[in-house]
Amino acid sequence: ASDGTDEAKRRAGESASGQVENGMVVGLGTGSTAAHAIRALGEKVAAGMEIQGVPTSYQSRTLAREVGIPLCTLEAARPDIAIDGADQLQLDGALVKGGGAAHAREKIVDTSAPRCLIVADDTKLTDTLDHPIPVEVLPDAVPTVEQAIHERDGDPTVRTAQRKDGPVVTDNGNLVLDCAFGPIETPETLAASLSAIPGVVEHGLFIGVATELHIGSNDGVSIHSV
Ligand code: A5P
Repeated sequence: ASDGTDEAKRRAGESASGQVENGMVVGLGTGSTAAHAIRALGEKVAAGMEIQGVPTSYQSRTLAREVGIPLCTLEAARPDIAIDGADQLQLDGALVKGGGAAHAREKIVDTSAPRCLIVADDTKLTDTLDHPIPVEVLPDAVPTVEQAIHERDGDPTVRTAQRKDGPVVTDNGNLVLDCAFGPIETPETLAASLSAIPGVVEHGLFIGVATELHIGSNDGVSIHSV
């Protein structure tokens, strides 16, 4: 979630869905902005377009079913295109994802597609990423990963659920540490360093994944190739 308006998110989502053509397999991202794209794709299916969706989360799978998009798995087919949201992004395509704790599956699906379109409202653009990085962790590894984050000058917090006592459990049965690092001057270096920690399933820094940014505002949408 962000401060951007639903109108700005809708413009971004619909813009990206316009890139989907008949016969394509589409990675379906997670969050309120990607949901606009999924709904727009549902309308295309209702109008006769034949596509298949590869969901990245329980949320995107449920919504895709609701709007009538046939689903498939990565065993069956590779996406031609993925459409996904982000929590913060730079114009060079570096992203922070995982606000919905779906970043592990998102990274698998998004990187499996030759084109990855990121949909976001313009409040999420920044010159330098400074959003806390969600890190999905095997439950047994939480204490050792917390220590490793401190050693990397980060401040980890176990993500807790709003309507449950206790931690958020991901779709994969793991926990999430939100790790504040302040401004991140070299995201690729931090990304590699986080990936190297034993017990880290996946982190929310997406570097070199996005190929197009569809940025919505209240006035329109701007598209940036990466
Ligand atoms: C899910 O884990 C995230 O990577 C989402 O893509 C992100 O939280 C975007 O959500 P909104 O579009 O609702 O801001």
